[in-house]
Amino acid sequence: MTTAQLKVQTHGQPAIKVQNLTKNYGPIVAVNDISFEVQPGELVGFLGPNGAGKSTCMRILTTWLPASSGYAWLNGFDVMYESMEVRQRIGYLPESVPLYTEMRVREYLAYRARLKGVERSVRTPRIGYCVEKCRIKEVQNRLLGTLSKGYRQRVGLADTLLADPPILILDEPTSGLDPVQINETLDTIKELSGKHTVLLSTHIMTEVEKICERVIIIDKGRIKLDETMKAIEAREPTYVIEVRGPAETITKFLREQPELISVEARPVGGDLTGFEVKTRDNKDHRESLASRVMGKGWAIRRLEVRKVSLEALFTDVVLRRSENEQAKTSAA
Ligand SMILES: Nc1ncnc2c1ncn2[C@@H]1O[C@H](COP(=O)(O)OP(=O)(O)O)[C@@H](O)[C@H]1O
Ligand SMILES: [Mg+2]
Repeated sequence: MTTAQLKVQTHGQPAIKVQNLTKNYGPIVAVNDISFEVQPGELVGFLGPNGAGKSTCMRILTTWLPASSGYAWLNGFDVMYESMEVRQRIGYLPESVPLYTEMRVREYLAYRARLKGVERSVRTPRIGYCVEKCRIKEVQNRLLGTLSKGYRQRVGLADTLLADPPILILDEPTSGLDPVQINETLDTIKELSGKHTVLLSTHIMTEVEKICERVIIIDKGRIKLDETMKAIEAREPTYVIEVRGPAETITKFLREQPELISVEARPVGGDLTGFEVKTRDNKDHRESLASRVMGKGWAIRRLEVRKVSLEALFTDVVLRRSENEQAKTSAA
């Protein structure tokens, strides 16, 4: 199905809409006033460190946990007041997949398909499709209790697909898997997007980089960044320059250059100063800038373009800010 067709199916509404959602566990604010939308067919990475509030948010979206305040709609249905409608439209892979250890894989999926109301006539081919898609054919007659973590996770994923729900909410679908299994699972999820809207949580940046079209970074219950991967790629790069000479004069000179919008200096040692500068447009100004600096008689030791990466953004919004907060707390 194309994104346009999915839009028709959802009558032009976002697949997921979250508005000022908050969840407290006693004094702990696990989710703190978050809002976002996911459009039909999008594959969005919900990225954040452990304890950020990802699972709590997903449990609310899947109707398993009531919010303390705020709203959420899936395909236009309210998670609080229309929970049965919501449940029919989502496939949810919880953080730890509860499986019946005494059941065989195929038997379990048949049982789950019945529970989910998959019509009898289509049950067998549908299970066959899910088994194929999630690469669990070779274990379909094994007892669930004897499966490795990787296979158990894949059975969980197959389970989410049984009723062919338009929306998939996958809570750390790759956790505990080895690198090969991680790649296979990510490939499967990528294949599923487009046909399904996917919200996938993870604490691993490279997973988002590999398959997601958009990232929502959450930390301490709050959304710190919500941007498409394309927009991140198109962000202005930073130039890193190290110049030998009088630091203050060079700083002043760089600030006077018309194409530079920000100049940050930091001493490197001796008469060397490092500068991080940003330019006004997306052109590469290295050569003209270098010749102007050298024209003043200053030597350049380093000049490079640093593209804005998800890692840099994550470091900035999550790691650096929490360091700053710690510094403030210990100073106080
Ligand atoms: N049932 C619970 N009772 C109390 N605190 C909880 C409960 N579940 C989660 N928390 C707390 O809420 C915060 C967010 O947790 P969680 O949503 O699991 O984050 P994530 O999935 O991003 O790791 C954490 O501080 C966690 O300790
Ligand atoms: Mg979690």
